[in-house]
Amino acid sequence: MDKNKNIFILFSFFFVSLLLFQNANVYTSALSESKVYIVYMGARQHDDVDRITSTHHDMLTSVLGSREGAVGSMIYSYRHGFSGFAAMMTKSQAQTITNLPGVVKVMPNSVYKLQTTRTWDYLGLPFNSANNLLNDTNMGDDIIVAVLDSGVTPENEAYNDKGVGPIPSKWKGYCQSGELFDPKKNCNRKLIGARYFIDGYLAYKGQPGSTIGIRDYISPRDSNGHGTHTSSTAAGSPVSNVSYKGLSLGTLRGGAPRARLAIYKIGWEDGIFTDADILKAFDTAIHDGVDVISASFGADVPLYSELYPQAGAISFGSFHAVAQGITVVAAGGNAGPAAQTVSNGEPWIITVAANTPDRAFPTPITLGNGQTLMGQSLFTGKDTGVVNLVAARGSCETLSTMDTYITGNVVLCFTGSRGSDLEVLRFVIRARAVVRGVGGLGIIVSQKPFTLLDAYADSFPSAQVDYEIGTKILSYIASIRYPKVRLSPSKTQIGKPISSVIAKYSSRGPYTIAPAILKPDIAAPGTNILAAYVPENPNIRISTYKIISGTSMATPHVAGIVALLKAANPNWSPAAIKSAIVTTAWTSDPSSGQPIFNEGETISKLADAFDHGGGIINPNKARSPGLIYDMSTTDYLQCLCAMGYDSRVISGLAGQATSCNNGLSIFDVNFPSITMPNLNGTVTLTRTVTNVGPVNSVYKVMVEPPKGITVSVTPSTLNFNPSVKKISFSVKISTSYLFNTGYYFGSLTWNDGVNNVRIPISVKTMY
Ligand SMILES: *[C@@H]1O[C@H](CO)[C@@H](O)[C@H](O)[C@H]1NC(C)=O
Ligand SMILES: *[C@@H]1O[C@H](CO)[C@@H](O)[C@H](O)[C@H]1NC(C)=O
Ligand SMILES: *[C@@H]1O[C@H](CO)[C@@H](O)[C@H](O)[C@H]1NC(C)=O
Repeated sequence: MDKNKNIFILFSFFFVSLLLFQNANVYTSALSESKVYIVYMGARQHDDVDRITSTHHDMLTSVLGSREGAVGSMIYSYRHGFSGFAAMMTKSQAQTITNLPGVVKVMPNSVYKLQTTRTWDYLGLPFNSANNLLNDTNMGDDIIVAVLDSGVTPENEAYNDKGVGPIPSKWKGYCQSGELFDPKKNCNRKLIGARYFIDGYLAYKGQPGSTIGIRDYISPRDSNGHGTHTSSTAAGSPVSNVSYKGLSLGTLRGGAPRARLAIYKIGWEDGIFTDADILKAFDTAIHDGVDVISASFGADVPLYSELYPQAGAISFGSFHAVAQGITVVAAGGNAGPAAQTVSNGEPWIITVAANTPDRAFPTPITLGNGQTLMGQSLFTGKDTGVVNLVAARGSCETLSTMDTYITGNVVLCFTGSRGSDLEVLRFVIRARAVVRGVGGLGIIVSQKPFTLLDAYADSFPSAQVDYEIGTKILSYIASIRYPKVRLSPSKTQIGKPISSVIAKYSSRGPYTIAPAILKPDIAAPGTNILAAYVPENPNIRISTYKIISGTSMATPHVAGIVALLKAANPNWSPAAIKSAIVTTAWTSDPSSGQPIFNEGETISKLADAFDHGGGIINPNKARSPGLIYDMSTTDYLQCLCAMGYDSRVISGLAGQATSCNNGLSIFDVNFPSITMPNLNGTVTLTRTVTNVGPVNSVYKVMVEPPKGITVSVTPSTLNFNPSVKKISFSVKISTSYLFNTGYYFGSLTWNDGVNNVRIPISVKTMY
């Protein structure tokens, strides 16, 4: 029976990966005739939106030859947040437009797919408790969260507006009627906006203007479920007694339960999104007066092509949103655990990784030399105490009842099997039975690691370790005459998160487009998330809930927390909010204090900055971080200069001719992180911190240098007072390696006795 359960769990895991891996593609249609191109023209030059559209028509007319043709080919005019348009053109017409004055960039209409509760308690925001960020901000009332996704299921209880105040006066958007969507009935003080943008999708399908045969509601109504799930996670109202197939999980709610939702449906049948629709949603959301944008879609690998170097539609839309003070939170992608897979890594975006709150089971293995290594197990028996340790004389597979040297000892063995997880599982079950049979006291199995631990689930002392840790234990055994070990029970308890892991599927850094920028920025719960969903039978519109996983689910967790932070600190810039989130993140498990593990190919390793950025989001600490690493729009433009963007793009984004301060190095950009992908010798860089805590504060530096790297900070004390609110400091980083290394990780923390303002340091030596 247990075995069947194993297989089920295994397959459900594969199912999740499958669901996620299907999304790994970016589709760019390659037709030779007319297709959709996006003409991006940068920041808009004046406020008269009709005049802006008219200049778009003029430009298209000059290329297509007739005004009628131009109006007919135009799909969208972007004119609120920035200027540009999407239109049907041939490749040569698109090339002609590229060279016209005012045009920053012409891009094909790429297509993206979806990336597919007790998490709030886990994050320290329990409901109905005083003195937390939730309580202090009136649950985010007055903050408007925009969700760009597959729409909404308005009847779900999660969108009720009980206890929510009047619609904020800054709101300029509206609800759009459409198929099975009636603004009068479906919108309220919670769901204040609901729009849909389909023209880019229809053009991509080759049927511009015609919705015939589209298997989706031609309205803001969600047919997929993804958008309902993400928006209710970000800002759903409290709903009591929510359960999923009989599994009661109590009160369900979003991160900012009183924040308002503005839905922009851009994900159509099968979760397809196009650039043209995405840009229109950004343009409209900026106009409408939203505070936060949550974007759970993207390419699963960073976009980079000849045609499309460095910047695409999401880059431009999100840049203009951030320039206007709107925080943009986006999914890092589900292409993990391989390195260099993180996407949506624009420097102004908060890029989100996903963690699994409680699916690792660290099992301490303490060697006689005092070193404790972490294995994985479901060992629920008694601590072995300090006992003798021996190495197996063969592999785990060849252990036999003749091996009496094991009697009275804990044995370490290696599996030779590179077979399937289930094959390894069978070997482990056999090896454990042998050791037990000859009177062994326990077994440590060095194997290809995986999360399926059922073979280790009983009171017999045992643990799995990967080959690297196994080799460490073996060298300890070889180094000493009487090797000793102590196996302690695994820290597991059902229903209580014991140790967080960064989920296997979560995309990892470094960020290939700019390896000196740390991405992802932050991790949030993304695995096994319960939230509102579309009803199974679309004709019976009852409130439905579902558990799904992905960085898509982690993203609205961060967006909801950003809404609360914005309510608590209305004047903070998007960079300040990002800094507050990164510098205060948990670097160990929020509940148990155990380290955060990395569910990669080597599950027993600690997670690092490329897995989770600053760590796991800690909302209550982020409210008052002490210091922030702030950035302005100018800083982002200078950052693009340092990244090597061309001046046409930079001037377009800025809306005026902008020259690069060529001396600026990417290392000096004021990120809340330091990442050096190719250090040779010594580099000195600068950071600036702004005091947002008590006016008179003294901070002292604490450095945890990456292994083999020297980090010195000047000055090492920062004195803030009524006239000194901002202080710059320099960081000198030297490598001692005279050969190429991989990445080593450390941190730099400012401490005033109350706050720990920590930024991660990642250094790779390129000798
Ligand atoms: C905040 O906590 C206080 C004290 O428990 C309570 O009276 C109040 O209703 C709470 N407010 C919110 C918005 O939860
Ligand atoms: C929730 O369930 C509990 C226990 O079944 C019940 O006592 C309570 O009335 C329910 N609350 C609501 C709002 O339905
Ligand atoms: C690193 O510095 C050493 C010593 O100056 C030099 O010989 C070497 O070529 C440098 N390596 C790179 C990759 O620049």
